[in-house]
Amino acid sequence: MKEVRRIAEIITPETTSDGAGVTLKRGLGTAKLNYLDPFLLFDHFGSSNPDEYIAGFPMHPHRGIETVTYMLKGLIKHKDSSGNEGVLGEGDVQWMTAGSGIMHEEMPQMEEGKMEGFQLWVNLPAKNKMMRPRYQEFKSAEVPVVTAKDGAVIKVLAGEVDETKGLVKDIEANPTYIDVTLEGGVDFAKSIPKGHSVFAYVFEGAAEFGGNDTDEATLVEAPRLVVFKDGDLVKIKASERVARFLLVSGQPLGEPIARYGPFVMNTREEIQQALTDLQTGAFVKSYE
Ligand code: FE2
Repeated sequence: MKEVRRIAEIITPETTSDGAGVTLKRGLGTAKLNYLDPFLLFDHFGSSNPDEYIAGFPMHPHRGIETVTYMLKGLIKHKDSSGNEGVLGEGDVQWMTAGSGIMHEEMPQMEEGKMEGFQLWVNLPAKNKMMRPRYQEFKSAEVPVVTAKDGAVIKVLAGEVDETKGLVKDIEANPTYIDVTLEGGVDFAKSIPKGHSVFAYVFEGAAEFGGNDTDEATLVEAPRLVVFKDGDLVKIKASERVARFLLVSGQPLGEPIARYGPFVMNTREEIQQALTDLQTGAFVKSYE
């Protein structure tokens, strides 16, 4: 019999500003929950007011982590100092492994209308922190969708749902990242390996979490981030309205972390090295 994961914590995201002045809701990477191994940060940006997003995220570095960007609305152009560039539009996903270091910008491409999406930071294990940077990027039309006949639509960005596999491959955290829409009253269940960290981020409607044979479920309204306790099954049920949420899981690394803004390494010395590399022009490695 599978053990249903109970709720560990329900987090109301903090409204903050990052980049050159992008208003966003931060669910992970705050004083409330600084690290949910291997996840370092989770941001939900979304606004219809260009003043709250147009300045974007000008050129900045990353080392030792992966950044995962998933767009719901609008367009973001990304460009890095090694010549990689592209535009992420509605429903597109980018899993960027910064590894040894990239310098990039992430800039909204529209001056009006709504921009909305998510960015997740995934830690890399010590052995991969200085790996060659890598992009995995998929257009909305390529993202596999599982449509269950009971009224659940599941976009599989990473991981597997009913034998449908997401296209993101070879990620050390062995992640699940799915976007689930449930019609009112519909049940959803997903097996997640025991020991993996799991959170759900409800961004539309409301859903019931953590119910099992002996415990009442808890109704959670958007926007909230729900962290689960250990177990092997996540169960979620939409309230009478439509509910939409992300479900994200990954294998913890269990390694020491030294964190300084966009650099996440294992030791203070490695952070110092990143800063030195930045000053001396040795930050972005050549792989030619
Ligand atoms: Fe970035």
